[in-house]
Amino acid sequence: MIMIDIYDMAGWWTLIMALQVVAISMYFFWSKRKTKTYDPLCNGKAINWKPVPIVEHDVTVEEPPLMGKIDDNVLNVGASSFLCLHKEESITEDALKSLEKYGVGSCGPRGFYGTIDVHLELEERLANFLEVEETCVYSYGFSTVASAIPSYAKKRDIIFADECVWFAIQKGIDASRSTVRYFKHNNADHLEEMLAEAKRKNELNSRRRAFLIAEAIYFNTGEMCPLKRLVQLARKYKLRIILDESLTIGVLGKHGRGITEYLDIPRDEIDLIVGSLEHSFATVGGFCAGTHFIVEHQRLSGLGYCFSASLPPMLTQAAISALDIIESIPNIIEELNENSKKLSKSLSQLKYFTFRGDDISPIKHVYLKKDDLTDRLKHTYLRNITNYCMEKGVAMTVAAYLRDVEINCPEPSIRLACSTKLTDDTISLICSLLDEAYEKVGPKPELQAV
Ligand SMILES: *[C@@H]1O[C@H](CO)[C@@H](O)[C@H](O)[C@H]1NC(C)=O
Repeated sequence: MIMIDIYDMAGWWTLIMALQVVAISMYFFWSKRKTKTYDPLCNGKAINWKPVPIVEHDVTVEEPPLMGKIDDNVLNVGASSFLCLHKEESITEDALKSLEKYGVGSCGPRGFYGTIDVHLELEERLANFLEVEETCVYSYGFSTVASAIPSYAKKRDIIFADECVWFAIQKGIDASRSTVRYFKHNNADHLEEMLAEAKRKNELNSRRRAFLIAEAIYFNTGEMCPLKRLVQLARKYKLRIILDESLTIGVLGKHGRGITEYLDIPRDEIDLIVGSLEHSFATVGGFCAGTHFIVEHQRLSGLGYCFSASLPPMLTQAAISALDIIESIPNIIEELNENSKKLSKSLSQLKYFTFRGDDISPIKHVYLKKDDLTDRLKHTYLRNITNYCMEKGVAMTVAAYLRDVEINCPEPSIRLACSTKLTDDTISLICSLLDEAYEKVGPKPELQAV
């Protein structure tokens, strides 16, 4: 009897096991069939699936600059080498010597075998030149400010920025994920209103950091920021100032030390100064300058500093040699400023164009006076005008216009860069050529009547 019971139970067990096996295999079978037919991307209709465009709005991509075509017979007012150091023989020689000594690349980020004595020398020289405690050198101008901003500003912080800041700053602000408020271009009263309102709503409090971001001279408008007012406001509302001095280092002030020297504002009023070596220094790279406490922070948290190969030694050497020249010929700055003022004066007499940019700013933006055209059309006309000027031996660039929802980008313009090589004759040539080009290839008056 006992034996039969056991056999009986064994029979039941077998049956249960068999049922389980069937159930499990059916489950796998069905779930497999399901994943086969379901694809979240195309819903089973791969052929009909049309992907959304990656870029939604119209973006005008600028043609590569005319570098190859530019030779010594062409007057270049497109490149921002304000002090013409790119033509300096001694810098080229020094860079070549450095090339022989170290080779082309640095082979690693600063923290991983990429630091070479020239980097330390440049950082020290820049710190002495700018009269700050410390500087750190980045390997690319664009990434300097774009990494410096998110290394301090984080998700819960708040940033107040001018609406005309250049593209790298916009990207830095995006990367920080902070709350951002744009104030009207160079309008300190508007900024003050915003700050007062933020204060009222308790958005400025001790739990979040607040930043003020501005450019000394705006790349997009050529206008200088009212730094004294900005500093006062920043102190009153406890904001930290990040100032982009890319276009003022080697341009403003008696020794070319930038806007703080020019306006006689103590350097320690500015928390972080960011600059580029790609304009007056005529090489590649950028730097951040400030106190040891502030700059040191970036050596571990500036993404562009930590994770990009460091600046090639020969380009670093070129920056050191450029600094030698700027320090030894102080009136080079005065010469540039004189030329900038002359260019402004001459541009104000243009027949068909208006322009923007402070007298002392080496960057000027030239706009069409005719304003009943769409931006796209203006851009095409400006492009045709610059092509005409190029044929006549003057190279200029049309500023890329990118309209963003939040940022009020200025309208299409020709961006002129002043330099020490300009003379009275070449300045009047540029201006007469602009008007001549407008008459030849610009908008025709009879088109207006149609
Ligand atoms: C610009 O120049 C091109 C080539 O010469 C011409 O086809 C085009 O119509 C011009 N555009 C305008 C808006 O005049």
